[in-house]
Amino acid sequence: MNRRDFIIKSLLALGGAPLLAACREEKRPAEKAKDTKADQKGEGKMKILMINGSAHEKGCTYTALSEIAAVLKAEGVDSEIIQLGGEPYRDCIGCGVCRKIGKCVFDDDIVNKLVEKAKTADGFIFGTPVYYAHPSGRILSVLDRAFYSGAAAFAGKPGAAIASARRAGTIASIDVLNKYFTINDMPVISSTYWNEVHGNTPEEVREDKEGLQTMRNLGKNMAWAVKLLAEGKKLGLGLPTPESGARTNFIR
Ligand SMILES: Cc1cc2nc3c(=O)[nH]c(=O)nc-3n(C[C@H](O)[C@H](O)[C@H](O)COP(=O)(O)O)c2cc1C
Repeated sequence: MNRRDFIIKSLLALGGAPLLAACREEKRPAEKAKDTKADQKGEGKMKILMINGSAHEKGCTYTALSEIAAVLKAEGVDSEIIQLGGEPYRDCIGCGVCRKIGKCVFDDDIVNKLVEKAKTADGFIFGTPVYYAHPSGRILSVLDRAFYSGAAAFAGKPGAAIASARRAGTIASIDVLNKYFTINDMPVISSTYWNEVHGNTPEEVREDKEGLQTMRNLGKNMAWAVKLLAEGKKLGLGLPTPESGARTNFIR
């Protein structure tokens, strides 16, 4: 029995009929939205949406993301790299208008389009160059606005973060990006080492054999995760329904 079959069988053994029934009862908004879109498109192929948080379209971060894309393709999973490029991006200004209109009030850049694409994606990989030991400002501005205005499009789907550095600051950067997943009910996909590559140029990154190996293993794990979730869903093992309603402020 391979790993995939083992996990599906284990899930069934653990949950049994009551769990299956409970899972069938209610779907999350993100899942409902995705079902509708998928039905409209009539497509069966899974897709991973990647974001290149560098202004260098074919730089080091792109080189790492491309290594993952090649593995996903070999695994039969589609992918797309969204390039943030060199344009300026506004930060979230906390105006709250997205709560009323259902999208970011700044409609002139990639953020609302990204949320639309996220609705039909099955998983996400966010990649960033390291700037002063943190992710690039542009990816944080884009993700703050995308998650604040459109978190449901990402919720419940697996995510992974990668970072590219000349030398140091990758771990802190990956930590920051992972937090978009962990506050939003998203399983975090790991690899066999820290999700980092090293280099100042794509050529140098291609010499980072271990870094690229880590990227390839991440691609395999991501493909495995989205396939497993899809198989589970077919068996009635959709996402668990989270509790909601409690909201505690510390100062009253
Ligand atoms: C403003 C700025 C700050 C940087 N800070 C760091 C740093 O703290 N640590 C590091 O190792 N590299 C740092 N670098 C180098 C880049 O992280 C590194 O070259 C990265 O691989 C570039 O990826 P890219 O080609 O996708 O843009 C910095 C580069 C810039 C432009």
